[in-house]
Amino acid sequence: MEVQEISPRLINKAKRLSVQVGNTPVVRIRHLVSKKNVELWVKQEWLQLSGSVKCRAAYRIFLDALEKGELNEHKTLLDATSGNTGIAYAAIGSLLGIRVALYLPENASRERKQILTSLGAEIIYTSKYEGTDGAQQAAKELALSNPDKYFYADQYKNDNNWKAHYYTTAVELFNDLPHMTHFVTGLGTTGTFVGTGRRLKQFNPDIQLISFQPDSALHGLEGWKHLETAIVPGIYDPLLADKNIEVSTEEAYEILRAAAKHEGLRLSPSSAANIAGALKIIKEIDEGVVVTVLPDNADKYSEVIKKIL
Ligand SMILES: Cc1ncc(COP(=O)(O)O)c(C=O)c1O
Repeated sequence: MEVQEISPRLINKAKRLSVQVGNTPVVRIRHLVSKKNVELWVKQEWLQLSGSVKCRAAYRIFLDALEKGELNEHKTLLDATSGNTGIAYAAIGSLLGIRVALYLPENASRERKQILTSLGAEIIYTSKYEGTDGAQQAAKELALSNPDKYFYADQYKNDNNWKAHYYTTAVELFNDLPHMTHFVTGLGTTGTFVGTGRRLKQFNPDIQLISFQPDSALHGLEGWKHLETAIVPGIYDPLLADKNIEVSTEEAYEILRAAAKHEGLRLSPSSAANIAGALKIIKEIDEGVVVTVLPDNADKYSEVIKKIL
């Protein structure tokens, strides 16, 4: 990638945004867990800039590119994402005065398109039949043919994605819950699982790392990937998980309803799926402290959630 001008002013402005990234609260789930000696704790990741866990990765991707001179006010950050990463890029881009262009499959929800457009992102549509893999390919081709105009963020291969969790999510969780026995979460770009898991294993090698995947290629767990049938993200580390289990969309929907009714939580499908997966692990153990992250809440999913609740 061609190195252009580095702007200390822009880097300082970006650094000042750090107070809005991460440091989210962890709360205990009590009503859905019936075992006396097992605790379930969840990190409420929607309580930061842009309303999701992806703020962490997007912020680190921006900051690193600014510090290396790969991105500045004269270039556009480009990536393929129909979801939270795009919203995070758009929010950070709007705060820093940097243009953001996103490739989206044309079937991304109306709600999602509206949020991205309102934050000033440019949207380029790809075929719904090619899904996020098709959007990724198209973004890569455009970036390669216009290196002076675009900085290709490439969240699936960018090490800043998993490093964001290595340096923040894992540290916050271990400070809050030093006695944790299991860290569990679903796989999308895999940044959350890989970065958090890698660091937690260094803090305490006895912590069990369990990753979740949807049970089929056609699923309703937005943000998750079915790795057997998708392009495997470059940052994925297949040797990290102690165990990998499947969670179905129906299991997630059931927890989404139960969490609203008994825990006061309005969850997104993938956050509900993380709790559903955690409860499967809890069934197998007699004691322990199980921890997961809730990537976002119900706010961006009203079209889906009105059919579930
Ligand atoms: C709603 C939601 N859940 C889960 C994930 C998975 O997180 P990761 O990409 O870190 O694997 C994402 C990622 O975009 C997401 O947006």
